[in-house]
Amino acid sequence: MEKTIIKNKSNQNWEDFFKLDLDRKMDFYEKDGKIYDCLFAQQLSKELLESLFDIADKLRKTTKTKEGADFIASLLSHKKAMLYFAQPSTRTFLSFLNACHILGMKTSEIRDSSTSSEVKGESHDDTVRTFSSYVDLIIMRHPAPGSAERTAWLLNNTNRPIPVLNAGSGKDQHPTQALLDIYTLHRQFKGHIDGKRIVMVGDLKRGRTVRSLSYLMKNYKNISIDFVSPKEFKMEQDILDFLKAHNIPYTETEDFASVMPKADAIYMTRIQDEHDASGESKKVDYSPFYFKEEHLKMIKSSCILLHPLPRRFEIDAKVDNDERAVYWRQERNGMWIRAALIAYIFGIENKIK
Ligand code: NCD
Repeated sequence: MEKTIIKNKSNQNWEDFFKLDLDRKMDFYEKDGKIYDCLFAQQLSKELLESLFDIADKLRKTTKTKEGADFIASLLSHKKAMLYFAQPSTRTFLSFLNACHILGMKTSEIRDSSTSSEVKGESHDDTVRTFSSYVDLIIMRHPAPGSAERTAWLLNNTNRPIPVLNAGSGKDQHPTQALLDIYTLHRQFKGHIDGKRIVMVGDLKRGRTVRSLSYLMKNYKNISIDFVSPKEFKMEQDILDFLKAHNIPYTETEDFASVMPKADAIYMTRIQDEHDASGESKKVDYSPFYFKEEHLKMIKSSCILLHPLPRRFEIDAKVDNDERAVYWRQERNGMWIRAALIAYIFGIENKIK
C-alpha cells in the first residue's frame, strides 16, 4: 500500500523524493519483501546479514570442487551484469566482477565515463537507461552522492526496472564495503560481534566506508565506537545523531594511543584527498593516525586490524605479517559476500547448499 503511494510520488519529482526520510522511501527499493536495490547500509537488517553470511560461507565451501563450482556457475548463467565504475576502483570492481563470474553471470563494464556517450552530451539518466536495455543488474560507483539511488529511482519508474547495487556513491555511502567489513568481523569474532569496542581511525569526514559501517552497528548489542581523527576530519553529525538515536555510545578523540589498548577491532582509513579541491588535506598532519609496527604491542592479543584498502602510509607494511592484521582476508571476503548478495537479489539463495 505504502509502496504504491511512494512510487506514485516519486514519479513526480526526484528532488522531493530524495529528501524524504529513509524510513519513508525504503519500500520503494524493495520487491516482494526483499531488498531489490542495495543502496544504503541502513537497508541491511540483522536477519539479512546473518543469512548473507551463511550464503557466503556455503559459496566458499561449495566452489572448492570443480563439480561444486560448475553447479554454482550454472545458477545465474542466464543473467547479465553491468559494472559501471565512474571512479577509480581495484578491489570493489574485481570482487564484484569475480562474484558475478562465480555465479555464472556474463558481465560488461564501463570504467571511465569518458568512454561512454556521456562525452557526446548524453545525460546520466539516458546512459543508465541504456544499460537496462541490455543487462539484468547494474553495479555502480560514481563520485556524486546519491548517484546510485538516483539510478535506482529512475529505473524503478521505467517499464524495465533492474536492480542497482551501490559500489560507492561519492562521500556518502558504500554499503557493500560495510557488508564485507561486518562479514570480516563476524568471521574473526566467530559470530560474536555484540559487546565489541570498535575504533575507527582517519579521515572520518570524507570516508564513505566508516559512515556505512557505523550504520550497521544498529544491528548489534552493546557495541561502542571510538572515532579517532584529526579535528579537520571528524565524523559528520548525521552519523553521530544516528548512533545517539540507536543508543550506541561513542567517543571522539585525536589521541589514538589512548584507545588502542581498549579496542577489539581497529578500522583504519586513508586520507581522502581526491575530494579536496582547496588543498585542505595537505595542511593536516596525518601521522598521529598511522598504525605503526611498535603499536602492535599496545593492542590486545585478540584485537583485529581492518582497512578497506587501498592504504598509503596509515598502516606500516611490516604490520601485515601479524596475525591480527586481517585486511587481506577482508578484501577476499568482499568477493564472497558480494556473490551472496547477488544470489539473494536474484532469489537463488536456497539453491546454494
Ligand atoms: C574505499 C572506497 O572506495 O571508498 N575503497 C574500497 O572500496 N575498497 C576506501 C578508500 O578508497 O579509501
